[in-house]
Amino acid sequence: MANTSISLSFLFVSALFLGHQVLELEASHHIFETYQTTPKVLHKALVNQAYRTGYHFQPPKHWINDPNGPMVYKGIYHLFYQYNPKGAVWGNIVWAHSTSRDLVNWTAQKQAIFPSQQQADINECWSGSATILPGGKPVILYTGVDSQEQQVQNLAMPKNLSDPHLTEWIKYPKNPLMKATPTNKINGSAFRDPTTAWQGPDNVWRVLIGSRVNKRGLAILYKSKDFKHWKLGEKPLHSAEGTGMWECPDFFPVKTNGNEGLDTSARGENVKYVLKNSLDDTKHDYYTVGTYDSVKDKYIPGKGMIEGDSGLRYDYGKFYASKTFFDSEKQRRVLWGWINESSSVEDDVQKGWSGVQAIPRHIWLDKSGKQLLQWPIKEIEKLRGNQVKWPSRILEGASQLEVVGVTAGQADIEVGFEINDLKNLEVLKEKQYDPQLLCSKNSASEKGEVGPFGFLTFASNDLREYTAVFYRIYKHQNKHKVLLCSDQSRSSLNKHNDKTTYGAFVDVDPANEQLSLRSLIDRSIVESFGGKGKAVITSRVYPTLAVDDQIKLFVFNNGTSKVKISYLNAWSMNKAQIN
Ligand SMILES: *[C@@H]1O[C@H](CO)[C@@H](O)[C@H](O)[C@H]1NC(C)=O
Ligand SMILES: *[C@@H]1O[C@H](CO)[C@@H](O)[C@H](O)[C@H]1NC(C)=O
Ligand SMILES: *[C@@H]1O[C@H](CO)[C@@H](O)[C@H](O)[C@H]1NC(C)=O
Ligand SMILES: *[C@@H]1O[C@H](CO)[C@@H](O)[C@H](O)[C@H]1NC(C)=O
Ligand SMILES: *[C@@H]1O[C@H](CO)[C@@H](O)[C@H](O)[C@H]1NC(C)=O
Repeated sequence: MANTSISLSFLFVSALFLGHQVLELEASHHIFETYQTTPKVLHKALVNQAYRTGYHFQPPKHWINDPNGPMVYKGIYHLFYQYNPKGAVWGNIVWAHSTSRDLVNWTAQKQAIFPSQQQADINECWSGSATILPGGKPVILYTGVDSQEQQVQNLAMPKNLSDPHLTEWIKYPKNPLMKATPTNKINGSAFRDPTTAWQGPDNVWRVLIGSRVNKRGLAILYKSKDFKHWKLGEKPLHSAEGTGMWECPDFFPVKTNGNEGLDTSARGENVKYVLKNSLDDTKHDYYTVGTYDSVKDKYIPGKGMIEGDSGLRYDYGKFYASKTFFDSEKQRRVLWGWINESSSVEDDVQKGWSGVQAIPRHIWLDKSGKQLLQWPIKEIEKLRGNQVKWPSRILEGASQLEVVGVTAGQADIEVGFEINDLKNLEVLKEKQYDPQLLCSKNSASEKGEVGPFGFLTFASNDLREYTAVFYRIYKHQNKHKVLLCSDQSRSSLNKHNDKTTYGAFVDVDPANEQLSLRSLIDRSIVESFGGKGKAVITSRVYPTLAVDDQIKLFVFNNGTSKVKISYLNAWSMNKAQIN
């Protein structure tokens, strides 16, 4: 749950009056009331809803953030999410709910969980997770904000298990089940986002709650025999100094061989564990791969794993508060994450909505054992329409080729690049580099030796606007080092947008394998998968010229060396039916 001073101050300064419509926020946050602005001239693309996505999950209006309690029940997928029923800014948070047969098309259901219990959630209903109990019965643990503004953990159960859409939820009357007390040293202002629970070899349930003590991030452990009485563990499952508050922890087993997923309680040989935390201070989801001692209830990150911001991330762009679930229908683990806006709060209010969910990703352990791989769920390919296919061809230095024949603003494109000549590489001399800084310094318009080459997405006719997603290959300590960038510096002429450039290193060697790049483009989103899912970067952009049928898509090379396109496949993407 992204409840931060940043969000609060944003709200404070933002206009909460839009014409005659008053967006009132919960009184307990003391942040609504007398702020007024005269509505400014509306940006045409905002009014036309040009930025509304075609196949990403978003409700018709208002604010959304964290995905909550994803699961599959009787063949129906469930997605709950943090939602403000009253406006396009954060506040009044409840659990909204949608269901689907394929993770692509969604039907809106009634709000599932909303404030009702004085002692447990009267102020708001924040993030949490679903657990499927033996016998197939789903339950939800979530964070409530109680009448004292304390964060506590609560239980909710479906009212009617014969209803596969689980439209109604009832709360356990004895909520809360976990709370700060004078003796347990828990900070009730930093105690939230229960994980999916898992059973140890002793059949006792375990769950993690995100927290912190000073600058140390914590995954607090609780245990229960009956899912109702929870006892604080002696120690957190894991903690890391200097990482700040851990939000939305996620803890799950992965197979060391193959891409099949495992139930959260699965154990055995050939199993490793992943612990993901969302860093409240920097808004990044980082993870480590390690082992889990279920007797001592201790998670041990693997050798070389880095804790915190410079560690591994699911996504090196905009992607936060993510959560996985085990898809027992398809034997895979699926990742959901929230993509927030890059626009100003005023623009969000005028659009009338804010936030979308990323395309669900299948995730599994890479055969190196050192990182996860991610790939858009297969089902999304059903939306592919008109296809463009290129035979292998050479992309000369300083050139660009337009991809004609697809709807450039709503597309799926994948290209394989081969580099035959790796002799003349730029050399990285320092011991360590921050990939994001490197991408910011060496943007698409900085010529290089091998690279930048990749896509110009959301490009305007005159190339005054484009979002470039590209590779650049360096030599570092006598090895090839592959950098993937999503460069937003020219994404929009609107100066109020956030245009941060993102970057990641991709663990591939272009001497031995092709460099693949796939981007899912969706009207204001570019989700890019480098190295067949080894590094992912999501960008949110709002061009002013490159909108609707004015959007173009190019493959470009701004390096000196030529690059071979060994294949190119691109598709127009159809609209999904969402809510
Ligand atoms: C429970 O759900 C089933 C299936 O939707 C429905 O037929 C039944 O009437 C529901 N029972 C109650 C008590 O609402
Ligand atoms: C409790 O958490 C809040 C919010 O993160 C923080 O401002 C406060 O300093 C914490 N208190 C202690 C004693 O750590
Ligand atoms: C959302 O976007 C803004 C600006 O684009 C960024 O600074 C902020 O950290 C983001 N928040 C979250 C929770 O991702
Ligand atoms: C979703 O809806 C679209 C539009 O009706 C349809 O073409 C598609 O087959 C449906 N399912 C999937 C998985 O795309
Ligand atoms: C390629 O580099 C040139 C020279 O730096 C620059 O003017 C041009 O804008 C670049 N092309 C792209 C697509 O950035």
